Amino acid sequence: MRQIIYTSVTTKTTGRAADDCTAILRVASGRNGLDGITGLLYTEEDSFLQVIEGPEESVAELLESLYADTRHRDIRILVDQIVEHREFGDWMMLHRDRRETSDAFDDRLRVRLSRVSPETASYFKALTAA
Ligand SMILES: Cc1cc2nc3c(=O)[nH]c(=O)nc-3n(C[C@H](O)[C@H](O)[C@H](O)COP(=O)(O)O)c2cc1C
Repeated sequence: MRQIIYTSVTTKTTGRAADDCTAILRVASGRNGLDGITGLLYTEEDSFLQVIEGPEESVAELLESLYADTRHRDIRILVDQIVEHREFGDWMMLHRDRRETSDAFDDRLRVRLSRVSPETASYFKALTAA
């Protein structure tokens, strides 16, 4: 199983990465299911942070789509490794709803990250602190 963690920056003029998420998720939930991809898509202000894990071929194909996708730029691969087990067994999306307080969101994120490796959690924490 290959696992990638990357960050990128939205190209949306609103500057909010979350604004493209509904459209992205509509495609992702179908394609990821078919290709055995799980992971998490997280947004913070203008940045995306995504974990992708799955069979090597599926991950490579998805990466190609991601590099070609003009909704984001500056893709930075933080982790590219072979893992034995998935850290995110379901495909999911985590982003702060506009009506949600940052405390409520932080709690949700903390619960989620308590189940992954400290290294994986550290990437999310770095982004949240930035
Ligand atoms: C930040 C970001 C994350 C994305 N995540 C996924 C994903 O997990 N799965 C997926 O199928 N498409 C995802 N997409 C959309 C793909 O880039 C692509 O548009 C879609 O898979 C259709 O692929 P195709 O244009 O090569 O057919 C994402 C796009 C962006 C901008």
